[in-house]
Amino acid sequence: METLTLKNISKQFGHDTNRVTALDQVNFEARSGELTLILGPSGSGKSTLLTILGGLQTPTKGDVVINNQNINHLAGKAADDFRLKHIGFVLQSYNLVPYLTVRDQFKLVDKVKPAGNLDPKRFDQYLDRLGIRQLLNKFPNQLSGGQTQRVAIARALYTNPDFILADEPTAALDSHRVTEVGQLFKDIAVKEDKAVVVVTHDLRLKEYADRIYNLVDGKIILEKE
Ligand SMILES: Nc1ncnc2c1ncn2[C@@H]1O[C@H](COP(=O)(O)OP(=O)(O)OP(=O)(O)O)[C@@H](O)[C@H]1O
Ligand SMILES: [Mg+2]
Repeated sequence: METLTLKNISKQFGHDTNRVTALDQVNFEARSGELTLILGPSGSGKSTLLTILGGLQTPTKGDVVINNQNINHLAGKAADDFRLKHIGFVLQSYNLVPYLTVRDQFKLVDKVKPAGNLDPKRFDQYLDRLGIRQLLNKFPNQLSGGQTQRVAIARALYTNPDFILADEPTAALDSHRVTEVGQLFKDIAVKEDKAVVVVTHDLRLKEYADRIYNLVDGKIILEKE
């Protein structure tokens, strides 16, 4: 079983009177086979938690542990390689490459990471489930918010990562798409034995979650296990 654990994580920004505590002694675990939801209002520390979980920023205190290996000190190319192979991010900013068509976003992944990506058959299924097949020749600035969000989800899944970390992946979606994306994340967790972590304030995702945490002012509480 793959696990992704935060042990006593605190994160502060700024100094002296400008000091903000974004995370306060957070303990958290995500496991393969489960969809874990972290719910919290704006400013509660969701994006900070997710980016620390995936090693995009470092905590002020505490440990990030993947499969019993402490990754606090993984830096530079080793950290980049690790992320590329094991973690799929759906970030709040989507981070699609502006001058590439949707199709070429995936080709770019093939260049950077030539092996272990989704085979064409499975990729094809995801194109249908996410309803993005007809968008393959478009550029990011020709997509709506919801379309962009679905392409960003497909791209995160494309590397077939062990851990999928998604920041507000349904913010721009209507209810019908929320159902589809919620069920897709759930299937990927359960049927493909991945650890899926979603941070959100979208309560519509609760029904798909195996485990739910609440984050309030940087403090985390387990709601459902
Ligand atoms: N780089 C930074 N520098 C200073 N303060 C920051 C930084 N990043 C986040 N913060 C602060 O940390 C707190 C948590 O921010 P975070 O972005 O994690 O919240 P969030 O729950 O993701 O909010 P939202 O739902 O609006 O995306 C906020 O008070 C925010 O202002
Ligand atoms: Mg955020």
